[in-house]
Amino acid sequence: MSLKENTAPSTIVFIFGGSGDLNQRKLTPAFYNLYLDEWMPKQFAIYGMGRTAYTDEQYRAHLTDGYHFFSRRKTLAAWQEFSDHLHYLRIDAGDAASYSEIADVIARHKKEWGADTHVLFYLSVAPQLVPEIAARLAAVLDPADSRNIRLVLEKPFGHELQSAERLNHQLAALFQEEQLYRIDHYLGKQAVQNILALRFANAFLEPAWNNRYIDHVQITAAETVGVEDRGGYYDGSGALRDMIQNHILQVLCLVAMEPPASADPNEIRDKKVDVLNSIRRILPEEVHEYAVRGQYTETARIKGYRQEKNVDPQSATETFAAVKFYVDNARWQGVPFYVRTGKHLREKSTSITIRFRTPARGIFPGPTPNRLTINIQPGISIRLSMQTKHPGQSMQLAGSSMLLDYNETFAQHGAGEPEAYESLLLDVMNGNATQFMRADQVEAAWKVVMPIIEARSGHNPADFPNYIPFSTGPHAAETLLSQAGHQWAPLAKVG
Ligand code: BG6
Repeated sequence: MSLKENTAPSTIVFIFGGSGDLNQRKLTPAFYNLYLDEWMPKQFAIYGMGRTAYTDEQYRAHLTDGYHFFSRRKTLAAWQEFSDHLHYLRIDAGDAASYSEIADVIARHKKEWGADTHVLFYLSVAPQLVPEIAARLAAVLDPADSRNIRLVLEKPFGHELQSAERLNHQLAALFQEEQLYRIDHYLGKQAVQNILALRFANAFLEPAWNNRYIDHVQITAAETVGVEDRGGYYDGSGALRDMIQNHILQVLCLVAMEPPASADPNEIRDKKVDVLNSIRRILPEEVHEYAVRGQYTETARIKGYRQEKNVDPQSATETFAAVKFYVDNARWQGVPFYVRTGKHLREKSTSITIRFRTPARGIFPGPTPNRLTINIQPGISIRLSMQTKHPGQSMQLAGSSMLLDYNETFAQHGAGEPEAYESLLLDVMNGNATQFMRADQVEAAWKVVMPIIEARSGHNPADFPNYIPFSTGPHAAETLLSQAGHQWAPLAKVG
């Protein structure tokens, strides 16, 4: 295949957890789609690694199935030539011999491709394995190659602030921060990346993007699915840790950050950390005024959360969380940022709503405030709701809106937008860390949610389960807003 000019250098990818779900559903389809789009380096090899005994052929067949089921595109036209780059190593992550084998593979490729070959380790493994794998890798890698070696780390990044700090500390003793790519897949979503374009490439918005014109902000990440087969993980996590500490706070940072001075990855990440550090710390005795939790109940057709596989039948884990945050800086003083997320809600919908202030009374009594709705998924769109004159002889107002539908606007783009993992893997190969979590960013995000976690520790909710599957969540989530005269944007697809 012909190559794009800015392709990454020769790269070897090692995937720990290579026989697992993430590789089959997301990573290999992403690499293949990058290959189809001619973004892959001229020379590359991808080694899946795990304890399952696969031959290369069996491994490739397993990945072909995955591509078939899970990829946004379904063309096998170049699969054969792509799969020649896929290999499997049967390893035991706790065994030194496996790491010597990895070192041998690297040496072989470097001999063939040159000393500048890049090596990327993707750790798609249980979090407790990360420190050991990192230490064993550091022991066999040549420190002189550090510029060309990168580690990609999946969430969860710590279970709370303390374990996140410990993990950062352990990793910092082995690798440089520039080598660590902590993934938050929301940052790879096109619509999330578009927030930067919307805010900083359109001069008309900036003057209104503050507490003088904006009344409040809402961020919703609603899912229709339940916990599916992830009960074992989820029951030790819950919605606050699983979605708010990472994905939702990252989106909030993009909405609230100050304009970065340049596109430098650290400059952009500094601005996000500033937002996290400005979020008001909730006092333990006030947590109930700021945060709501919920758990879905059983119905005749749907299993309740407590009935799910690998979930404690008395579980106090929340499957719904809503929080009111305040960013206490000059731009946002007094503007609530309401966020909510939940499993088994009415609609799969991730969106941001910016509710502007009610216009001054002037000639129109009680005009409706403007709303800017950024729909992240499904479907990317930006809708500005406005008041216009209703056609006719009298001066009456009618609600209307201006809609930018991403897919329609860029219809000629054809195959649809790249998936988050495609963008993120390409960034790692190119050494661009902008969309990855720096150590201090992860810790700052934990600091934001820790007061809620701590206040709830040992205080199980008396009302769980408290919401019906496919509803909008617990009643208390409505009250959180209605106290201030606000209302959640309806859970319905926008655009
Ligand atoms: C993951 C969470 O990080 O994000 C899942 O662990 C959640 O519980 C998922 O379902 C949501 O991602 P998306 O891309 O479907 O919004």
